[in-house]
Amino acid sequence: MILDGQAPGAIEQAARRLRAGGLVAFPTETVYGLGADATSDTAVAGIFRAKGRPVGHPLIVHLADGVKGEQALSRFAQPLPPFAQALVRAFWPGPLTLIATRQPGVGAAAAGGQDTIGLRCPAHPMAQALLAACAEHGVAGLAGPSANRFGRVSPTTAAHVASEFGDDLWVLDGGPCQVGIESAIVDCSRGAPVLLRPGAIPRDHIEAACGERLATREELGLPDPRASGTLESHYAPSAQVRLMPAQALQTALDLLGADAAHIAVWSRSVLRTASQRVLLRRMPDDAQAVAQQLFAVLRDFDALGVRLIWIEALPETPLWEGVRDRLARAAA
Ligand code: TXA
Ligand code: MG
Repeated sequence: MILDGQAPGAIEQAARRLRAGGLVAFPTETVYGLGADATSDTAVAGIFRAKGRPVGHPLIVHLADGVKGEQALSRFAQPLPPFAQALVRAFWPGPLTLIATRQPGVGAAAAGGQDTIGLRCPAHPMAQALLAACAEHGVAGLAGPSANRFGRVSPTTAAHVASEFGDDLWVLDGGPCQVGIESAIVDCSRGAPVLLRPGAIPRDHIEAACGERLATREELGLPDPRASGTLESHYAPSAQVRLMPAQALQTALDLLGADAAHIAVWSRSVLRTASQRVLLRRMPDDAQAVAQQLFAVLRDFDALGVRLIWIEALPETPLWEGVRDRLARAAA
């Protein structure tokens, strides 16, 4: 059921449902999240059931802004190292998740049983209104993975969420997400910052804000994390995705000629096809706009019954790292 999040009483109703252990999907600036009371292991179990996500894959806990958020932060996490505090000051509320050492005895299910916990303070006003209302009811944080079934493309509209879970799930509608790809994740529990998932905030901005270079997992000798978003194949539409430079794309279209069918192309370059049954769609020139549209475009192509999605390869600059990462996984 899609609820207008602006309607009087909608946020309060949603907060009560969450307080009672239910699930409510909510908008954030990145993608829609599937929320449950992070302090209740039974409520969180509902998320794993609904998503079909393997238990043990940790979830991100969303916190309110301001004093309530600071209280919640120290409830869920042990004191942050100075570089992580600098990241909080620079980017919260916003599309950045920190992995911190967990306070024992809280959020065990949300953390997938690990001794660390992912924390994020979202910038979306409706998410913040919901988190504030939850805090009033004694719910200190909302566990919230992306509101899609395991392995599928993240939802950036309320309708996307409803199409994943059907009518029984409450979805607060806050319009299309502005950022469009999931938050950047920085592991702050290892003594040095490690970028686990790139997002809309470029890595050089993160490094400038915390005054340290981002280390890789390999440099710190860390094992592969149990992080769904870091599986090689993820964020996948049903159609097969291929990335190609513009010239290779044009050559492929020329070779197929008028017989090409069930193919959709998303490119910054202007391309030509002799086939009426090839869908050509222009990709915006800037990385932010591409991120904002990315998952909706993949879903649109799926809905049109396309079998192959050909996408023009993206520039190799830090600004594009987040979208490059998602497309590489969609193509894997
Ligand atoms: O933008 C976002 O981050 C969205 C919105 C809803 O906030 N949420 C999101 O959640 O993308 P999810 O669960 O789909 O992805 C969270 C990622 C997963 O790859 C998870 O494994 C990783 O964060 N993660 C969470 N807690 C972790 C931890 N303690 N250690 C390592 N990775 C963790
Ligand atoms: Mg996800």
